[in-house]
Amino acid sequence: MDVIEAIRARKSIRGFKSDPVPKQILEKVLELGVRSPSAENGQPWEITVITGKILENIREENIEKLGRHEPFTPEVQMHVYAGIYKERHMKLAAQLYGLMGIAREDTENRRLWVQRGFRFYDAPAAIILTASNSLDESPTQFDLGCLAQTICLAALEYGLGTCIAGQSVLYPEVTRKHCGIPETERIVMSIAIGYPDPDFPANALESTRESLDNITTWIGFD
Ligand SMILES: Cc1cc2nc3c(=O)[nH]c(=O)nc-3n(C[C@H](O)[C@H](O)[C@H](O)COP(=O)(O)O)c2cc1C
Repeated sequence: MDVIEAIRARKSIRGFKSDPVPKQILEKVLELGVRSPSAENGQPWEITVITGKILENIREENIEKLGRHEPFTPEVQMHVYAGIYKERHMKLAAQLYGLMGIAREDTENRRLWVQRGFRFYDAPAAIILTASNSLDESPTQFDLGCLAQTICLAALEYGLGTCIAGQSVLYPEVTRKHCGIPETERIVMSIAIGYPDPDFPANALESTRESLDNITTWIGFD
């Protein structure tokens, strides 16, 4: 797959086949992923890859906490959107609920949809990106963002789909406990990864983008 094809093909996948992803394939994806740029080649990342029973246990405990309405404890700053950013978020949510056939008043199915986010979208594997908490959060997040995008693009070459999933690590203590991630590591982000289920309605989503004209300033061109 060439670069342009991959960039156009990548999209968030929120429904996966149950087929396991071989470790050798995930290794290839991560080997490509770590070719990502980072400031001063600091490579401020550690990677934990989870599958099987441990992943199931994390899903279960996340859902229990969500069910008890326990406050989220993210280890990185979260967006608090307003204005146009909130509008885009609302549009995404409406598109997803629309594709899933979940009506506004259907609180039960909305609740179940939210749960999916805390279950790594039921992917057969999850990649957890962490960084030493001795590092400044903001530049580190930029570097980990580069890593996440490269992983998502590389995954396509192996027929894999991904969803970068902040929701799945909103109770980071759960993932930390089950994976033995040391307290010195900040849990930054997760990526759900697996073979896309082509029949899963939300996977049909083609998210929109603001026109370049509205976000780009060209200087020195005719
Ligand atoms: C930092 C970050 C966190 C995200 N967290 C979630 C999440 O928790 N749940 C989810 O469904 N999608 C999540 N996404 C995926 C975005 O919703 C998605 O990238 C965006 O809607 C654009 O759609 P696309 O990826 O299909 O192009 C996240 C993406 C990023 C970059």
